[in-house]
Amino acid sequence: MSEGERVSQLIELCPVSESDHRAVTEMAASIWPIAYGDILSSEQLDYMITWMYSPGTMLRDVANGVEYVWMQRGGHRLGFLAFGPVRSGVECPLHKFYVLSGAQGQGVGSAAMQTLFTRLNDRGATGVWLRVNRENARAIRFYEKNGFLVRAEDCKDIGNGYVMDDYIMARSFVS
Ligand SMILES: CC(C)(COP(=O)(O)OP(=O)(O)OC[C@H]1O[C@@H](n2cnc3c(N)ncnc32)[C@H](O)[C@@H]1OP(=O)(O)O)[C@@H](O)C(=O)NCCC(=O)NCCS
Repeated sequence: MSEGERVSQLIELCPVSESDHRAVTEMAASIWPIAYGDILSSEQLDYMITWMYSPGTMLRDVANGVEYVWMQRGGHRLGFLAFGPVRSGVECPLHKFYVLSGAQGQGVGSAAMQTLFTRLNDRGATGVWLRVNRENARAIRFYEKNGFLVRAEDCKDIGNGYVMDDYIMARSFVS
């Protein structure tokens, strides 16, 4: 068995309960400054975390069909992701994908991604699409390694004078 196969067998995807939304926010707040410290100002980081991870935003996400999921190994949380709504016959949006800083580069993200692909394929999605900051070279490399291709560029106004300067990347399940 390869190292990748071994890790993938050990990573579980477990639903995040509403009572754990705060734990997701705390995990994001620990990962973001390290991941985006060279890309975004600390003011924009604070603005985006408050905007994207407030209790109200997360509840609204869930009401709109977004599913928050922990990446776990042996019961320990190593990261989280959020995707959906999942609809048969269309590509599923992947909104969030984060591995704890100390657990990055060990195959956790790739294992979680492969399990996610299988689950979405089983539910009839035709693929996955996401937004990634154009300067986030490591994440772009990670997505490419997992079969995503850049489909478009999009600079989105997010208010308060800030923009998200992103690539849209997609991975199709249909050949
Ligand atoms: C991007 C991310 C989800 C990848 O998950 P991961 O578990 O670290 O990735 P894996 O170990 O499965 O794959 C590693 C590959 O991803 C890339 N990579 C991305 N971030 C990396 C990191 N911090 N350390 C090492 N490799 C990283 C490399 O290309 C590496 O390929 P290699 O092993 O051939 O060198 C994770 O590093 C992360 O959460 N980064 C910070 C937050 C972020 O940018 N999230 C994406 C938001 S759009």
